[in-house]
Amino acid sequence: GRTRHHKFVVKSSPYTRLCSTKEILTVNGKFPGPTLRARRGDKLIVRVYNRAKYNITLHWHGVKQPRNPWSDGPEYVTQCPIQPGKKFTYKIQLSSEEGTVWWHAHSGWARATVHGAFIIYPKRGQHYPFPKPHAEIPIILGEWWKQNVMEIPGNANVTGGEPILSNALTINGEPGYLYPCSKQGTFKLMVKQGRRYLLRIINAVLEEDLFFAVANHRLTIVGKDGCYLKPFKTDYIMIATGQSMDVLLEADQPPSQYAMSARAYASAFGAGFDNTSTASIVEYHGKYHRPTSPHSPPLPPYNATKAAADFTKHYRTLATKHHPANVPLQVDTHLFFTLSVNLINCTRDKPCTGPLGKRFSASVNNVSFVTPSFDLLQAYYYGIKGVYEEDFPRKPPYEFNYTGERLPFNLLTPTFGTKVMVLDYNASVEIILQGTNVLASDHHPIHIHGYSFYVVGWGFGKFDPKKDPLRYNLVNPPEETTVGVPNNGWVAIRFRADNPGVWLMHCHLERHQTWGMGMVFLVKNGDSPGSRILRPPRHLPKC
Ligand code: C2O
Ligand code: CU
Repeated sequence: GRTRHHKFVVKSSPYTRLCSTKEILTVNGKFPGPTLRARRGDKLIVRVYNRAKYNITLHWHGVKQPRNPWSDGPEYVTQCPIQPGKKFTYKIQLSSEEGTVWWHAHSGWARATVHGAFIIYPKRGQHYPFPKPHAEIPIILGEWWKQNVMEIPGNANVTGGEPILSNALTINGEPGYLYPCSKQGTFKLMVKQGRRYLLRIINAVLEEDLFFAVANHRLTIVGKDGCYLKPFKTDYIMIATGQSMDVLLEADQPPSQYAMSARAYASAFGAGFDNTSTASIVEYHGKYHRPTSPHSPPLPPYNATKAAADFTKHYRTLATKHHPANVPLQVDTHLFFTLSVNLINCTRDKPCTGPLGKRFSASVNNVSFVTPSFDLLQAYYYGIKGVYEEDFPRKPPYEFNYTGERLPFNLLTPTFGTKVMVLDYNASVEIILQGTNVLASDHHPIHIHGYSFYVVGWGFGKFDPKKDPLRYNLVNPPEETTVGVPNNGWVAIRFRADNPGVWLMHCHLERHQTWGMGMVFLVKNGDSPGSRILRPPRHLPKC
């Protein structure tokens, strides 16, 4: 593969949306940020200069970074943040990724505006496993806040409640014609009748999963999270925060203007409830009478859990000679993780003004992740004691009815800690991710760094260890890096722990992550030289 060099300057830049101008964090002055393009197996060197007044790190979401956690990016997990005025160089070695992934800040809530598409083409001389598109268009689903987004988590901690929602959803940085002062900027995709377009769709929204559709057009899904899928047709998609999808759009309708829209899929009442939509335009070339407003697509309502499941149930990986499915058939490490939103008391050292003196928290196996002040990777690599503990539980402390008919009070309050789970090199791992209804049910988009995994099963209600494994798909399950654990449901994932390092797993709903819904895998080195963590780069940021 080739080596490609990029320079990313993180700085504050003025942007005008929703009738007013404010400073936002950008890369190279762009919102959304620049698109990275490479071929399968290439290497990218990205020099990052922090000219902003906040700490920053960048993460390459969906890229596995073989043996090189040093460039993965989550702050205080694989690196200390790049402080204002400092720089850091990320080295990104691509391996089996192909299709659309993305990059975003992984420090505080900076990813609200610091993000962009990352497109990985087939190797030179190779082809897509689907009909060639006439053009390819990144479609970045994002948000606009009137407030300074960097202050939102701190404010929410003080009130103890849900963080505020954004003021608009956006498509390629634009709220679109449904919002005030936004008609002019509306993103417009010009198409020619009879042609085929590849939309590279990314959900970069902090707090919401989304439904997305183009009026009067069926969509063909051909990839997800940088892996191809068996193509299937649909009227709408559900894309969870953190996910990316490759979607073919055939311009096969009478020339006109059609809305390309997105709306929240919240699944549960809570901060995620937002019934507004964002719209952009697909416009056919040619001479015809433009309608006064574009045709708009029917999108499922915000709480349509069934519509979301009806879409995701179609995922199958290609499982061909060129794109094989390497599903682990035998499992030696069985893990069971519960995902909960909890309530904790306001305390003297974490004061808050929440009702009843309580605030939200979140946990995996009832452990709420505490972000350390020194990065776990260096602590592990240099044997520095006292930064983390190795006793992350392999199963939840109590079994109960996870669909939440009865609430065991001891599960309402999590324990706290910076705990990692140690995995042997090449362990064959299965994790049941079980949603719970400890406080309220929710859909949790769970992302694992350093890996892709196979989603071999999923369902609603409580996972049944006797019956459910009998229905696993071990032939062509989808390969993903961010999986939506359904509302009051579970998923079963499998992967081989063949990437040594320190890797974060967390909910991609930003509030849940902020509240502690995350944990860390420490995958040990193997015996051969090719199965050990690479040496650290020379100039690591300091904490
Ligand atoms: Cu898209 Cu840990 O992140
Ligand atoms: Cu969550």
